[in-house]
Amino acid sequence: MIEALDGLRDVIVCETRISRIALVNGKAVLEYRGYDIRDLAKHSCYEEVAYLLLYGELPKKYELQDFKIELAERREIPPQIIGLLTHLPQYTHPMVVLRTSISYLGSLDKLKDLKTKEENLEKSKNLIAKIPTIIAYYHRIRMGKNLIPPTLELGHAANFLYMMHGYEPSKIAEKALDVDLVLHAEHELNASTFAARIAASTLADMYACVVAATGTLMGPLHGGAAQEVMKMLREVATPGGADEYVRKKLEKGERLMGFGHRIYKSIIDPRAEILRELARDLAKIGNRIWFEISEAIAESAYKYKKLLPNVDFYSASVYANLNIPDDLFVNMFAMGRIAGWLAHIIEQYETNKLLRPRAKYIGETERKYVPLDQR
Ligand code: COA
Repeated sequence: MIEALDGLRDVIVCETRISRIALVNGKAVLEYRGYDIRDLAKHSCYEEVAYLLLYGELPKKYELQDFKIELAERREIPPQIIGLLTHLPQYTHPMVVLRTSISYLGSLDKLKDLKTKEENLEKSKNLIAKIPTIIAYYHRIRMGKNLIPPTLELGHAANFLYMMHGYEPSKIAEKALDVDLVLHAEHELNASTFAARIAASTLADMYACVVAATGTLMGPLHGGAAQEVMKMLREVATPGGADEYVRKKLEKGERLMGFGHRIYKSIIDPRAEILRELARDLAKIGNRIWFEISEAIAESAYKYKKLLPNVDFYSASVYANLNIPDDLFVNMFAMGRIAGWLAHIIEQYETNKLLRPRAKYIGETERKYVPLDQR
């Protein structure tokens, strides 16, 4: 037996053709299906990247056009899901709402157990298209506002902002969200993707696998970090307050949210670099304060503990400047990551081996059983 007790650090548990994280010439490189994330962020839209992740190749022009139309036509959600969104209590965290809605979508899909590649791609397109609508509808329902149905006229990112706010976003806002979704779309065997693959390895249906992933994404050590970052930005309040805040937090041995990464240790997360530029561009047309506080915190985090920001750190100021409420940040992560989860679930089905490790027992052994009336 091989012992891997340190959070499965550096343990390889499966092979994948979906993404690669590597160190090349002292820099971290992240590739989706062999394409550098920097090129994808610069030149591709989210739909193109979702196509790449699902089909393994970049689409030709007409393929992308068809794929965009297919997604746009699937955006509306069944009335039963709207009913669910209406009946869930307003205090329910939006990520719990999303998890529950995906489970409900699965119960409405009579073909949920079928697993041919074609059927899996159909379900994938449905999930990618409907998740933004679930998020935007729930938000408007809890705010007591009318629902804004999706429009065929806008791309994936712009349509989401339109459904959320009721008006078409600016080109800068649309581009910022689009790039943010591209950057969140996939990241090898992170905790939520691993959870999805474990569920897929039992041959559970696709919805069950996505529910496992959404549940895992929620925690503050994973996708929940961006919401915690925003809380920190609000607590710090001014760039001048950052240094003392960071110093005190680290002195107390507390974690600084949005910093550190299991893989990117002393090198910068390439997604954080791109998001930093996005956050800076958005700050020019929005509220500069969040970006300025973020920069001050990053400087102190490096000064005191050589900590580098991860993907969640600059996401917070990007979302804040897109007028997305703090408690929807993890949903935004899920909205991007769904494409990667689905690609991994399909890959797991196709190359399946049940994922079932062992645990090292460290409790007491061979204890004498005492009947209930004698204890
Ligand atoms: N704040 C303060 N210290 C941190 C830190 C953070 N965000 N991230 C890592 N460290 C420190 C740890 O205290 C530890 O230091 P020590 O050796 O002096 O005790 C060292 O770095 C290694 O940390 P460890 O917890 O072993 O790394 P990990 O690979 O298990 O954890 C994370 C990775 C992501 C869970 C961790 O960096 C973290 O908690 N980050 C904050 C949450 C976050 O932003 N999550 C989103 C990830 S994309």
